[in-house]
Amino acid sequence: MDYTNMSKQKNQGVVIKMKVIVVKNASELGKQAFDLLAKAVDEGAKTLGLATGSSPVELYQEMVASQLDFSQMTSVNLDEYVGLSPENPQSYHYFMNQHLFQYKPFKRSYLPDGQAKDIQAECGRYNQILADNPVDLQVLGIGQNGHIAFNEPGTPFDSVTHEVALTESTIKANARFFDSIDEVPKSAICMGIANIMAAKEIILLAKGESKAKAIKAMVEGPVTTDVPASVLQKHPNVTVIADQAAASLLK
Ligand code: GLP
Repeated sequence: MDYTNMSKQKNQGVVIKMKVIVVKNASELGKQAFDLLAKAVDEGAKTLGLATGSSPVELYQEMVASQLDFSQMTSVNLDEYVGLSPENPQSYHYFMNQHLFQYKPFKRSYLPDGQAKDIQAECGRYNQILADNPVDLQVLGIGQNGHIAFNEPGTPFDSVTHEVALTESTIKANARFFDSIDEVPKSAICMGIANIMAAKEIILLAKGESKAKAIKAMVEGPVTTDVPASVLQKHPNVTVIADQAAASLLK
């Protein structure tokens, strides 16, 4: 990886100060994120990296309401639960259709196949898709424990698409989307940290007080696998868009 743009020496290598935009509310967050996405599209972005969860919902609303046409573009999603079919309302396939693709189809939209019989082979197939479709702009959320996609604390920075056993805390945090915590899948297929870092540009979205500690650790803490999102300090083009609650612990 080329870190020549970096300007500040810190911890495990050269890092840059992350750009942080603090917004008043979720709708402002969606608008700010959409402006960056529209600019990337205007400048010729061909492939968008997309995320699920509540963080990007307002961005997708802005995309749906916009005049932008994605029908000649490609999207690649970060992750999918193992075992859920695309028709399952809790699957990330379903989420993306509901929030974006049914209104704004892309030429091709890729997500990992959570029902693949051979999960290892599926991870390999997904890595090839990512190699064939370099991501121009990656949208990210952040977990309360600092995870990105489902890359939990301890995931190596050179990881590529892999199967992840979800931590208890992530299962608990995501249980709100399921009828009961027992229904939350125990594992997922997810892009690795190296795949995410390969994107030309990254926007990370965060809302609410429950993200404040993770945001502080990501922006102001050391670069460490204990906080997977801290690796973004090493990326040359990251914008964090956070509401006041999520940004409340920043200096
Ligand atoms: C899940 C997803 C992540 C997401 C995170 C935060 O773990 N795999 O991609 O960033 O949840 O979700 P939310 O945006 O709902 O807070």
